[in-house]
Amino acid sequence: MAEQGDVTAEKKKLYIETVGCQMNLLDSELVVAKLRHEGYELTTDINQADAILYNTCSVRQHAEDKIYSALGRIKRIKEKRPEVKIGVLGCMAQKDQDQIFRRAPHVDIVVGPGQLARVPDLLASARAATSHSPQLAVSRARNDGSLETITASFATYDADREPAMRPTPFQAFIRVMMGCDKFCTYCIVPSVRGPEQGRPPDAILAEAQVLADQGVKEITLLGQTVNSYRFRHPDGRTSRLSDLLEAIHEIPSIERIKFITNFPNDMTDDLLQAVRDLPRVSRYLHVPAQSGCDEILRKMKRMYTVAAYEEMLSRVHETIPGVSVSSDFIVGFCGETEESFERSVGLVERSRFKNSFIFKYSAREGTKADRLHPDDVPEAVKKRRNNDLLAVQTAISLEDNRRWIGRTVEVLVEGPSKSSVRREGWDGLDQLTGRTSCDRIAVFDGPERLIGRMVRVVVEDASAVTLFGRAETAERVATPA
Ligand code: 5AD
Ligand code: SF4
Repeated sequence: MAEQGDVTAEKKKLYIETVGCQMNLLDSELVVAKLRHEGYELTTDINQADAILYNTCSVRQHAEDKIYSALGRIKRIKEKRPEVKIGVLGCMAQKDQDQIFRRAPHVDIVVGPGQLARVPDLLASARAATSHSPQLAVSRARNDGSLETITASFATYDADREPAMRPTPFQAFIRVMMGCDKFCTYCIVPSVRGPEQGRPPDAILAEAQVLADQGVKEITLLGQTVNSYRFRHPDGRTSRLSDLLEAIHEIPSIERIKFITNFPNDMTDDLLQAVRDLPRVSRYLHVPAQSGCDEILRKMKRMYTVAAYEEMLSRVHETIPGVSVSSDFIVGFCGETEESFERSVGLVERSRFKNSFIFKYSAREGTKADRLHPDDVPEAVKKRRNNDLLAVQTAISLEDNRRWIGRTVEVLVEGPSKSSVRREGWDGLDQLTGRTSCDRIAVFDGPERLIGRMVRVVVEDASAVTLFGRAETAERVATPA
């Protein structure tokens, strides 16, 4: 197209950094796709950039601190080249709003997660302005204090995709819902991402098909509580997550389907049966427990007891043989005593999670916990509990991973392993990395051309986080006849 040719002639350079969850990675992908239409191309050199964007996270203070210090560092870039436009996108933009301009006056645009479709226009008007004119685009609170809904974004925003921003060329995310209605007392997500809204199944399926046509082999369905997904059709029918899995499973070239993250109470039998019966759905479930103490769970408003969580886990293991489950825990939540912490240790020991993500409680302004309960566990205690719980989990992960030694696993090969170096006397094999169906990382020797393929790997060794081995076919493919 002639128009695109014109745009290419004066390509603007875009530098983007993303912190936080997979939803943010996907949001960044969509923002970059939109900006490509406006003649931007990606750069990894911040000093070359015409626009610098940070897609931010507010779940913990640490994530916010990182952004403020990055904004501090780039101040000199703006001083040298005032024409560079700087944007803060995502959860922090929604949460802090004007405060970002106060702390970092050189920022040009602040855009909340519900308004990202407006980034191109906001950047364009910032560029057109003759003087520095900061612009704020965030979702507004309604009278009842909840956030306005932003369904329009699904149609205009999720339709665009940008392969260069994906984890790998054959792995992609699809949003199935926005927002969250659970309002766990510690969590900022519902107040920055708004209420839960399911996306129409037709749009999700169409997107899966487009991705498959682009060569994507693995699709991860995303939602804050993805297993709560419900879509009411105008004729009264309801689609659930299990229906989405079944429909996407019909696309032959999609070799693996995952979904994150699950809320324990919504782990319904139809979903577990779908995971059991659909071979290309990963036998892996991330179901955050957050705590092993009933009193803490009640204070967190998680709406289940430890016994109910464990009953759910038993159902998961009975229904899906060989499934692996991972979890999240918060340590040092308000009022967590040594005894309540020990109960979390007990839950980890009994549950034998594949792995657990463990976080020190970080008080978030605007949450119920911050209003109602003092953040009374000292930082040093939080740190110790974090290390202790991690040590318990790591010992379990190591023991369980070692059980895989001698067995063969199916790995979707993602790329060269991080530590991969071509040694002297290189035998034609690279060190590759990928994941098994139950989400274990596998590092193995094999030729580069296996990247993007499903490969059988013989496990020869294991650490707490990695299975090590060799591709079953490695010798044969390395020295073609
Ligand atoms: N402090 C610490 N961890 C938190 N999480 C969410 N909010 C907080 C907070 N205020 C953790 C939960 C959640 C994960 C994404 O982040 O464990 O599952
Ligand atoms: Fe936050 Fe709870 Fe919603 Fe997860 S389920 S996003 S922890 S409020």
